[in-house]
Amino acid sequence: MKTEIVTTKPIEGQKPGTSGLRKKTRMFMAPGYVENFVQAIFNAIGGAAGKTFVVGGDGRFFNAAAIQTILRMAAANGAVRVIVGQNGLLSTPAASHLIRLHGTDGGMILSASHNPGGVDQDFGLKFNTANGGPAPENVTEAIFAHTRTVDSYRILKSGDLDLSTPGAQSLGTMTVDVVDPVQDYQALMETLFDFDKIRKMLANGFTLRFDAMHAVTGPYAKAVLEGALGAPDGTVLNAIPSEDFGGGHPDPNPVWAKTLMDLMMSEAAPDFGAASDGDGDRNMIVGRGLYITPSDSLAVLAANAHLAPGYAAGLAGVARSMPTSRASDRVAERIGIRHYETPTGWKFFGNLLDAGLVTLCGEESAGTGSDHVREKDGLWAVLLWLNILAERKVSVAEIMTDHWRTYGRDYYSRHDYEAVPSEIAERLMADLRARLTDLAGQSFAGQTVSAADEFSYTDPVDGTVSSNQGIRITFEGDARSVLRLSGTGTEGTTLRVYLEQYAPPSADHKRHTQEALIGVRNAVAEISGVATLTGRTQPDVMT
Ligand code: G1P
Ligand code: ZN
Repeated sequence: MKTEIVTTKPIEGQKPGTSGLRKKTRMFMAPGYVENFVQAIFNAIGGAAGKTFVVGGDGRFFNAAAIQTILRMAAANGAVRVIVGQNGLLSTPAASHLIRLHGTDGGMILSASHNPGGVDQDFGLKFNTANGGPAPENVTEAIFAHTRTVDSYRILKSGDLDLSTPGAQSLGTMTVDVVDPVQDYQALMETLFDFDKIRKMLANGFTLRFDAMHAVTGPYAKAVLEGALGAPDGTVLNAIPSEDFGGGHPDPNPVWAKTLMDLMMSEAAPDFGAASDGDGDRNMIVGRGLYITPSDSLAVLAANAHLAPGYAAGLAGVARSMPTSRASDRVAERIGIRHYETPTGWKFFGNLLDAGLVTLCGEESAGTGSDHVREKDGLWAVLLWLNILAERKVSVAEIMTDHWRTYGRDYYSRHDYEAVPSEIAERLMADLRARLTDLAGQSFAGQTVSAADEFSYTDPVDGTVSSNQGIRITFEGDARSVLRLSGTGTEGTTLRVYLEQYAPPSADHKRHTQEALIGVRNAVAEISGVATLTGRTQPDVMT
């Protein structure tokens, strides 16, 4: 087989965002696009020669074709071995685990996470480093720099490999190992959780539904929940991954997982409901009649993780992204463990986990995880909840009521203004930034600002400073709002406005969330001028 060296020119718009490079699928399909980016990755990490990688994706449209290109390029760049999921499928947490298990030099994950899939939808490609986590900023910056200078790429002239059967095959001098995507991941879960206890709870009549949203966790949830744990057939909904996720948004939140939400709010609700996203790293947890916000879920898991065998020794600490509510801080303070506030994006947790400073991490955007891998992990969160429920033998609602009575409740909601013209979104943030230092002490819609700043993070392990990570405004009466621009959108800019209001242990915890947040919401609307600037009086999505 012959290696071709193809002359190429830099392509605009290959700057990786919060979680890798994410663009419209057609852009990725343009001639040379994937090739340029993949060559830039190899160039940025000092070449692929002699290296081993993991490759897999969430099965969305163009996944299979992009993987064939990556394999041919890895071979032509001198890689010795690539481990690839059967049929090109690997959930993001399973890919992270395989990188760590086999000690590879990293991996490439193909996904646009919870964004819809299809020729007119979204695609993504992300490089993870040898610790199994998303490349840190210095690496993504280096990759971006190489996309600007790349002038040729190396690719093997060869046909497509058949990835449908596990086993080893050769591609030039490189070995391609096709592996069952579920097996090693399931084995890891069995070391962390008490499968016997969960199995008994299910055998005793505890009921659940898991919505895989036509995405990658279908096979994982089938094998673990219906297989190993013995839940009845039909427990996993939408279990077969499809290239366009059944035409939906594989985003596990009350808006996009509406069918499951409706079931959970009905008379026929099972004891527990959960959903995961396109690539299996996000989760939604719902009890009978009660949605659990991701911020609360992180706090509950932090307070109860020791009930699962994998965390019986207690937690080193807990980290949350800055816009995530402060509920997990309250737990950490009470049980006396470290807590950290990091910028948005899972990559910021990597150093804290590697250094053993924290055990659990979470983001308000339905991501929760631990030091078992270096990605957030949807099914892991579901299993930890189930393990806790099997130990405590109470309902999800009772766990929450008890939690709020102990720590207080952080009412929480995120309001998204989608596809705002970028210059308007930038102007809104710039205007606000210019006024930040004057805000303290002023009142807006009856709420007095106690502090306002722009979040800047210094990594406690390597000292890297990440500035401009979002604007934080706190109000008297323990309310807080965060404003930031999304780094994962593919059309215009998404403005995210995060709202929270604390209610202490003795307060009423049964209020409607949006009502409990009306004060801070009105104040932020007035401060930011969002309606005037964007012409929108309502957000597009409230989660
Ligand atoms: C969003 C979430 C963020 C998450 C990222 C990748 O990023 O807000 O928490 O890490 O997706 O899943 P954003 O679009 O806000 O930049
Ligand atoms: Zn995801």
